[in-house]
Amino acid sequence: MLRPSLFINAVSGIVPMVEPLVHMRGISKAYPGVVALRDVDFAMARGEVRALLGKNGAGKSTLVKILAGVERPDEGAIVMDGKAVVLRTPMDGIRAGIATVHQELSVVPELSIAENVFLGRWPKQGGRIDWRRMQREAHDALAVLGLYLDPRQPVARLSVAERQLVEIARALSQGARLLILDEPTSSLVAQEAETLIRVVRQLAEQGTSIVYISHRMDEIRKVAQSVTIMRDGRHIATAPVADVSNRQIVEMLLGGAQGEGGAPRLAGASGVRRPLLAIQGLHVAPRIQDASFEIRAGEVLGIAGVLGSGRTELLQAIAGLRATQGGSMTLDGSAFRPASLREARANGIFMTPEDRRGEGAVMMLGIDENLVMASWRSVSRGGVIDRVAMRAKVAASIRALGIKLAHPGEPLGNLSGGNQQKVVIGKALNAAPRILLLDEPTRGVDIGAKRQIYQLMRDAAADGLAVVFVSGEIEEFCEVCDRVLILRGGSITGAVEGPAIRTETLTELTTGEQGVH
Ligand SMILES: Nc1ncnc2c1ncn2[C@@H]1O[C@H](COP(=O)(O)OP(=O)(O)OP(=O)(O)O)[C@@H](O)[C@H]1O
Ligand SMILES: [Mg+2]
Repeated sequence: MLRPSLFINAVSGIVPMVEPLVHMRGISKAYPGVVALRDVDFAMARGEVRALLGKNGAGKSTLVKILAGVERPDEGAIVMDGKAVVLRTPMDGIRAGIATVHQELSVVPELSIAENVFLGRWPKQGGRIDWRRMQREAHDALAVLGLYLDPRQPVARLSVAERQLVEIARALSQGARLLILDEPTSSLVAQEAETLIRVVRQLAEQGTSIVYISHRMDEIRKVAQSVTIMRDGRHIATAPVADVSNRQIVEMLLGGAQGEGGAPRLAGASGVRRPLLAIQGLHVAPRIQDASFEIRAGEVLGIAGVLGSGRTELLQAIAGLRATQGGSMTLDGSAFRPASLREARANGIFMTPEDRRGEGAVMMLGIDENLVMASWRSVSRGGVIDRVAMRAKVAASIRALGIKLAHPGEPLGNLSGGNQQKVVIGKALNAAPRILLLDEPTRGVDIGAKRQIYQLMRDAAADGLAVVFVSGEIEEFCEVCDRVLILRGGSITGAVEGPAIRTETLTELTTGEQGVH
């Protein structure tokens, strides 16, 4: 049953059924050159799970940052429990019972898991930090999410997905009345996302309200009762999920102009695929023991595996970022063993990492500089940067990727999460590699932009590049890959090709019982 809720509909106006937990009224916010929010109304009932949807740059993160006290609105008011509140800092938000998992991870890698879970509120006993209690409670908070790790471990050792779970545990353990999850499952694989969705439902049963931002349409119906759609900083509609079809949602968020459109699946169309890189018995400690496969020019090759199967490590070994302990690689017929990133790049191998804030891009530098960072030579003459050439190249990338920005020179950090991700991909494509390794390239990218990225991958393959694609969302492989390798138990246990690439098949091969037929 739906709980009493408050639905604001673009057509019918405001229909309050009970006093909402929180009501944001007439919120506007501008940054230099961009209006992020225009007169947005947003209200949440107790125990309601609301999906918040919109394209990259629609204003979702800005709205929830204002709700959490991270950003201040230029105009508008926030009413909680019927009283106006002013949230000046994130601490004000937490005090008001609002906990957030932000889109860009905010864990401190040098601190332990337990310290991160209780960041800013370490439990004390007689003036001293109560380490035992902190570890016990952190362990329990993670166990709820199905993550059993030693809470004394530094977060630096964890994968991006595990770090995200630590953040979620932190938000949950704050005992919030309103929990904001900004793309919580973007780096989780299916099973972990399922666990999280279960936890969200439980919390809602207990009366916690949850704002759930996600680009994954399949999740929205599983998790939310109602949905709010934003476009270009405006509130477009709020409705019970049961009342709107996926098609209507997509139309509202894209603005009607673009329908669902066919997937750019061109598998099998690009003729002979020449082996470019052959890998034999590769051993990459600790997770890859014995991997053998080849990467062919002109194909999009997926690597499917569960979290912790070593997908990233495998790419890193090829990109010269991780030492190998055994096995061999042959690039275009010659032995290849990249000792460094530089050496791999010199051989035409380029990788985009899953964590864009880490190695992917430099947030303080301009969008333009990031885009040509790996290809300075192509925009310089005699060692001097040719501004005109640079501007042209930057403009071409912005167009090809549909990056939403105010000015190419502004810092990358100003862009919305999905738009930052597009810049990371643009930077790699500009480097004109022969082998392009993409680790979770569509993380946090909206459904419209995902299709653009798939198309770019297909185009790159059609131009003769080898594109290797790692994703935690199995459905993505079906959209874009010619071939998918199954990485399991430290080796490549199989490959699926062409029309046989189906979600159920891949799920079964990566997670199903082995040896049972
Ligand atoms: N600190 C900032 N400085 C300048 N512009 C900003 C800043 N933060 C956000 N913006 C701009 O405001 C707009 C809305 O951004 P926001 O992050 O809210 O989008 P979003 O809906 O969360 O998108 P995504 O799905 O990509 O995460 C974007 O055009 C973005 O570039
Ligand atoms: Mg965002």
